[in-house]
Amino acid sequence: MPSQLTARRSTALSGRVRAPGDKSMSHRSMILGGMASGVTEVEGLLEGDDVLATARAVQAFGARVDRLEDGRWRVEGAGGFRTPRSVIDCGNAGTGVRLLMGAAAGYPLTATFDGDQSLRKRPMKRVTGPLADMGARFDWLAAEDRLPVALTGGALKAVDYVQTVASAQVKSAILLAGLNADGVTTVVEPEKSRDHTERMLRAFGAEVGVQDNGEGWTISLRGGQPLTGTFVAVPGDPSSAAFPLAAGLIVPGSEVTVEGVMLNPLRTGLFDTWIAMGADLTIANRRNAGGEAVGDITARHSKLKGIVVPEARAASMIDEYPILAATAAFAEGVTVMRGVGEMRVKESDRIALMAAGLRACGVQVEEEPEGFIVTGSASVAGGATVHTAHDHRIAMSHLVLGLAAQEPVSVDEPGMIATSFPGFVDMMNGLGGEMG
Ligand code: S3P
Repeated sequence: MPSQLTARRSTALSGRVRAPGDKSMSHRSMILGGMASGVTEVEGLLEGDDVLATARAVQAFGARVDRLEDGRWRVEGAGGFRTPRSVIDCGNAGTGVRLLMGAAAGYPLTATFDGDQSLRKRPMKRVTGPLADMGARFDWLAAEDRLPVALTGGALKAVDYVQTVASAQVKSAILLAGLNADGVTTVVEPEKSRDHTERMLRAFGAEVGVQDNGEGWTISLRGGQPLTGTFVAVPGDPSSAAFPLAAGLIVPGSEVTVEGVMLNPLRTGLFDTWIAMGADLTIANRRNAGGEAVGDITARHSKLKGIVVPEARAASMIDEYPILAATAAFAEGVTVMRGVGEMRVKESDRIALMAAGLRACGVQVEEEPEGFIVTGSASVAGGATVHTAHDHRIAMSHLVLGLAAQEPVSVDEPGMIATSFPGFVDMMNGLGGEMG
């Protein structure tokens, strides 16, 4: 991968592509497969760097993980994790490290978790706090609340945990620890967050209670339930599908279809938002795959208009605000994105990075502590090299913008795109985009 990638103004994009496997489900399939007894086979796994780091971690915790000749992945769990021989390096993956810490905390073992320079900057207490309340011990090896951290697990007691921030990672870490805790663990969410852990736990044979509490869910799980290996079909990732679809919306004359996209309503906030902005987005061939709704989404070039994105939608599209902002740059009027302070603690400070990158491309952006406002225009200048701070979604969002801007747009550290979307550049070029 070169040290920089550039996207140039392209003529109409067209074609049908398949979204890579969903990252959230891919991590979970490896981790639950490793905790379970027996064999788990996974079809459609995202072979991105983040998930491969989780697969290696699960192996280090004692499971056997193989990629089969037909592209499926096979995990043979040992019915529990054991002390690994080396440091668990989770690379760039917040989901990987937080879920693995939760899973590992339930077993009598010691393990040290670490990550790359971006992951070392992200807060970990949101997960280690509740896990410590359950009885796990965490020793910070560099700075408090940051990786690397050493875990001593085992002998956990169930907790009742009321979340202040809707976070599927925190919820999942507590539930995975709760599987091996004494008593019934309860998590109360302030808003509904993606429910892949709950669904997949059931597929592995666990009973998970879910009650709608008006705004979010109250989830309960009895400790001591064994998991049994199963078959997992991973559908296409809506967060990745967003990039070719966005290009379809902003490059004049385009028509792009992404097949097999997961349509779990807790993940599709971006598509609702684009439709409210006037996007010509249609969903066909709705079906069920791997316990999730999926469909084929077609995006045609559209005259977009700015809107106020409902704050209540944030959890269902938290990873999609960067690409939403890139498309908002081409919309008529103002797009207001508020209630998204969580964006500041993702792979980078995504509010600051999008504001800086879009401004460098000639777009008017107002930054707020918990949000940002983009004023769009029919013509976006481009002509900038954007700093991505190691963040795959910052890189892809600006590259897509570059396909429709007047002047080329370059991004640094493009190798990071492989964390979630290894085939991104080839896919965009296959649709007729100019990236290289
Ligand atoms: C994820 C949850 C979200 C999301 C992340 C994946 C998951 O993070 O941003 O990319 O798979 O559970 P939070 O739990 O921090 O909101």
